[in-house]
Amino acid sequence: MVHANQPIGVFDSGIGGLTVLRELRQALPDEHLIYVGDLARSPYGSKSPETVKRYASQITRYLLSRNVKMIIVACNTASATAGELVRQLAAPVPVLEVVAQGVEAALDAVAVLGAKEARVGILGTVTTVTSGIYPAMIRILAAGRKMAVPLMLQKACPLFVPLAEEGIWEGDLADRIAAYYLGEMKDFHPHLVILGCTHYPLLRGAIAGALPPGTSLIESAPAVVQTAGRILEETGLKAPQTNGAVTEYYVSDSVDTFCRNAGRILDTTLDLVHHIDLDACEDGEE
Ligand code: DGL
Repeated sequence: MVHANQPIGVFDSGIGGLTVLRELRQALPDEHLIYVGDLARSPYGSKSPETVKRYASQITRYLLSRNVKMIIVACNTASATAGELVRQLAAPVPVLEVVAQGVEAALDAVAVLGAKEARVGILGTVTTVTSGIYPAMIRILAAGRKMAVPLMLQKACPLFVPLAEEGIWEGDLADRIAAYYLGEMKDFHPHLVILGCTHYPLLRGAIAGALPPGTSLIESAPAVVQTAGRILEETGLKAPQTNGAVTEYYVSDSVDTFCRNAGRILDTTLDLVHHIDLDACEDGEE
């Protein structure tokens, strides 16, 4: 029997998923959240799908051992490669992943554009871009909405994740790296660009500066939070009102850099940060 007081599990390779957690804490302040950041093995975006699947399944097993009522895959790379596996492992616990939510948000934006042929840019890690999941899902969901499929251009930006993890979110270096990656995207003149990695909203200013003025940047967090809230309401699992629930953080490597940058993202100091050995969550070993 699932109870409304059970926690929600959220995970990413590092601090990127905190851009989703931040919105969750604001919109659903009574929910007990457990965040896992796999710092020791970040970045996921340059790893093979098999490796990311193994990492994601270890984290899923850990979260299930904590009796979560919902899992949010706050990592596009893990969503692209392991979304289905996480769903299978977690069933009947509902799983929300950022790719589908980001695509829905992008198609909502395309619908209001009213452009005859919308141009959509997609930025992500190498593994996400190589998986082709964004173009595929855009085609499927656009067909479901009876919308014209937009013109699409993808670009992998591998240096964005270490830059974000280092806390270099703005300034000359961030601007130069954004300009280095986004020249072709700028010439594509996109109406909107999907930030297909949860680290990228931290570099929003640098990314916007390298694109034509007025380009909309789409992130998945608002859609994820809205969908999570709806599912909790519909299933009667929304946490009862409290004076603010706790968020626990588990990281697989040194907690110091994480705490400093997480504090900047969440605009608060973090109390409950623990180290976790994720290899101990291999199948049959927990
Ligand atoms: N933030 C993650 C994503 O959305 C992972 C980035 C990485 O570790 O490479 O893809």
